[in-house]
Amino acid sequence: MFRAARSTLLLLTFSVVLSIPEYRVHAAPPETPKTQSSYDPWWKHAVVYEIYPRSFQDSNGDGIGDLNGITSRLGYLHDLGIDAIWITPFFPSPQVDFGYDIADYTAVDPQFGTMADFDRLVSEAKKRNIRVIVDYVANHTSDQNAWFKESRSSRDNPKRDWYVWRDGKGPGEPPNNWYSWFGRSAWTLDSPTNQYYYHYFYVQQPDLNWRNPEVQRAMYDVMRFWLNRGAAGFRIDAVSRLFEDPNLHDDPILPGRNAYGDPNIEHKYTDNLPEVHDILKEFRKIVDSYPGNPVLISEADQPNISELTKMYGKNDEIQLPMDFQIADVNKLSARDFRRLLNEVDDNSAGGQPHYFFSNHDQRRQWDRYGDGVHNDQIAKLMATLLLTTRATPQMYYGEELGMRTTDPVRKEDVKDPVGKLGWPVDKGRDGERTPMQWDKSKNAGFSSGNNLWLPVPPSAAQYNAKAEVRDPNSIFNFYKKIISLRRTVPALRNGDQTMLDFDDQNVLAYVRKDTKTDDTVLVVLNMTAQNKSLKFDLSKFGVKENSGNSLVPASPSKVSLDNISVEPFGVKIVQVH
Ligand code: GLC
Repeated sequence: MFRAARSTLLLLTFSVVLSIPEYRVHAAPPETPKTQSSYDPWWKHAVVYEIYPRSFQDSNGDGIGDLNGITSRLGYLHDLGIDAIWITPFFPSPQVDFGYDIADYTAVDPQFGTMADFDRLVSEAKKRNIRVIVDYVANHTSDQNAWFKESRSSRDNPKRDWYVWRDGKGPGEPPNNWYSWFGRSAWTLDSPTNQYYYHYFYVQQPDLNWRNPEVQRAMYDVMRFWLNRGAAGFRIDAVSRLFEDPNLHDDPILPGRNAYGDPNIEHKYTDNLPEVHDILKEFRKIVDSYPGNPVLISEADQPNISELTKMYGKNDEIQLPMDFQIADVNKLSARDFRRLLNEVDDNSAGGQPHYFFSNHDQRRQWDRYGDGVHNDQIAKLMATLLLTTRATPQMYYGEELGMRTTDPVRKEDVKDPVGKLGWPVDKGRDGERTPMQWDKSKNAGFSSGNNLWLPVPPSAAQYNAKAEVRDPNSIFNFYKKIISLRRTVPALRNGDQTMLDFDDQNVLAYVRKDTKTDDTVLVVLNMTAQNKSLKFDLSKFGVKENSGNSLVPASPSKVSLDNISVEPFGVKIVQVH
């Protein structure tokens, strides 16, 4: 199960034509193969697709997407080649944080449908071999959750200790200097009992006290509830924040202020406490006790590879911790991607890497990585990067269409509370949560209603599923093609991954090789606006012929390894022999 860190370096040539220096290659030694066996759990080969249910498809015209809407679009997801959907919270909620403030963990919010709708979604998805992953918001509840209502009702209520209550330091002074991720103090005074409760996020999102065994039991039951209903696993929200320092040490203050006007702070005493891992082990035991290999995906915005690696445990914690370092490179830097891809590929836990670029908290990759001129081509380059490495890829709805971030124009239109507080420096997350762009009809086919929760971006006229499904050169068909290659080409499905270790800021190139079949594929990504002519000697990989079959683009069908020409921000995927 575990792979030792690898260090062997082989020699290989990979150069811009005309100068042919030798470059070093970072390659796996034979004794530590990364080849995945036919017994791999499904999630190692899955393409995971995040759905923000408010914005995917509205089935009843109220302007908000719902579960039946998702069910009605499963055919589209199947056609694209998706294996699993992660649906962000659809549970009863006052919607302060659009579902991440949960009032009841084991029910469906009527605005998203009913439990029967959920069951139907799971069974219809299953018919198409699509699994359903549920969001598990472990760190905090809504202040409207019955647990919190009881907890705040008196100091001696049996549920008082289910949340983190403390006395102030002095009159009008919170217990310490901890700040909320969403601005202002992380402590709010509850006057009737004259104590402060802790909330890492909004005031309306009190943190659960995970030191309390009753909380643990209640939350484990939540997992079992959804597994019993057919969930294929969980995406665990804000997992590194489950515990706080019981001694309430002040966090170190850093220079400067953030978009909300608060001092910058290192969340030293509230992030990544070691106790988190005890709980992750319990989560894992629960999913492992169910058939079908349910998966745990963690929101792990870990600051470095060593914290990310800890999330895997000894293969007894999270199977797929999301890698935020790769998501947030935020520029087309071959050197940075190469380093980070190698780093996680080499993780000492032997864990399966899990990448993404966009999600409901991140500005969309179309504009974040786009240069303003070649954005569609760059969207295809990012798709290649996401879908051709060894990692399990995670997509965000609409990225396959080239949906872009569309921020509100006026402060009064902002829905996300952090956007109101941070305006105009931080406009919040509405921009990446706009309705899915299905077609050119009313509301881009998202809703028949007249009152959408967020407006449809103007780009829907051109970038929509209906138009792109028909256009062979669309971003959609590019994703579809690469997803299908990932499934059918042995090297892309099972292969080891070796970065061609040349110190080039501009071109990222790697080899995937399936050691069982010897199938070998070269992937080249030109991260610049200039044409590149490149030469590769892949003899170290057992490659004998100096020409290969171009899988992408389809023509010309043969390319010479002595002179591969890659257009600005272009990609090449070449099967070599
Ligand atoms: C996670 C969610 C984000 C939410 C926060 C608080 O980061 O992805 O949308 O606001 O947790 O629940």
